Amino acid sequence: MNNDTIINTVKLTKYYGKQKGIEEVDLQVQRGEVFGYLGPNGAGKTTTIRTILDFIRPTRGSTTVFDLDTRQHSVEIHRRVGYLNGELALYNDMTGEDLLKYLGNLRGGLDWKYVKDLAARFQCDLPRRIQGLSLGNKQKLGLLQAFMHKPELLILDEPTNGLDPLMQHEFYDLLNETKKAGRTIFLSSHVLPEVEKVCDRVGIIRQGKVVAVETIETLKSHSIRQLEIHFARVVPKEKFSNLPGVRDINVQNNILTCTVVGSLDALVKASAQFEVVNIISHEPSLEDIFMTYYNEGKNNVK
Ligand SMILES: Nc1ncnc2c1ncn2[C@@H]1O[C@H](COP(=O)(O)OP(=O)(O)OP(=O)(O)O)[C@@H](O)[C@H]1O
Ligand SMILES: [Mg+2]
Repeated sequence: MNNDTIINTVKLTKYYGKQKGIEEVDLQVQRGEVFGYLGPNGAGKTTTIRTILDFIRPTRGSTTVFDLDTRQHSVEIHRRVGYLNGELALYNDMTGEDLLKYLGNLRGGLDWKYVKDLAARFQCDLPRRIQGLSLGNKQKLGLLQAFMHKPELLILDEPTNGLDPLMQHEFYDLLNETKKAGRTIFLSSHVLPEVEKVCDRVGIIRQGKVVAVETIETLKSHSIRQLEIHFARVVPKEKFSNLPGVRDINVQNNILTCTVVGSLDALVKASAQFEVVNIISHEPSLEDIFMTYYNEGKNNVK
């Protein structure tokens, strides 16, 4: 831990009665990074975030944010954090504009021009009542209220929930700008390609436990992919044997299928000897990634 550690959780554990939320979560998020928190439904992402922000109390363990203990300094921490709730509950009777001004006034010092710029980028209809807004348009308001104060730390629970691809892109651009300005982002997701696209590092949580914290490069080098290559003509299987990282090769007529771990380089180079018509890559599912770590864990124990 050093001064640039913005979030530090130590053996953070939360039980809801007997129901496990999270167990012994150790996470360090560094200043200026985009940290992705990846896990399937029910893994413990929201529980971690709420415990970090002191909205719920841990059963055991502790957290510091900006080197301040979250139990003792939650007011100060909340002032410096932009937060997007994963289960957004907005004030239905208000318009978007009312809500943002209300929240802005609570904290003070809101730059309304910046809010309008953000609203334009995300095509938010601020004068409209929240009640009639679609899920995606509510989500955009949620994002605006998290970003509008330009906080030094953003904690975003499933920020792209409900956003269409164009708006997702706008959000990724905003993340990049935020990062370039030296601010820090912690976001949760259950979508691997998204995390790969926008994050510097990722923590993987499964059944309440963090099973890995990796840079995106390392994560990709572990990744398993199913590949299907269509050739113009029948290819000899033996040309594809013993390629590093390639297994389960099957050649039927002009179609080769296989499993590749990590880099595709050897397979692509071997394929280039023949005329390639199409390459279909099936991205690994979250479960595939978990299995990789699970198996590695078992191998380490041996
Ligand atoms: N208030 C609660 N009372 C009892 N159990 C809870 C409560 N909130 C969460 N849990 C349980 O804690 C575990 C973690 O839930 P959590 O909401 O943190 O997961 P998540 O990773 O955010 O999932 P999702 O992707 O669906 O949002 C789950 O087993 C869930 O059922
Ligand atoms: Mg959640």
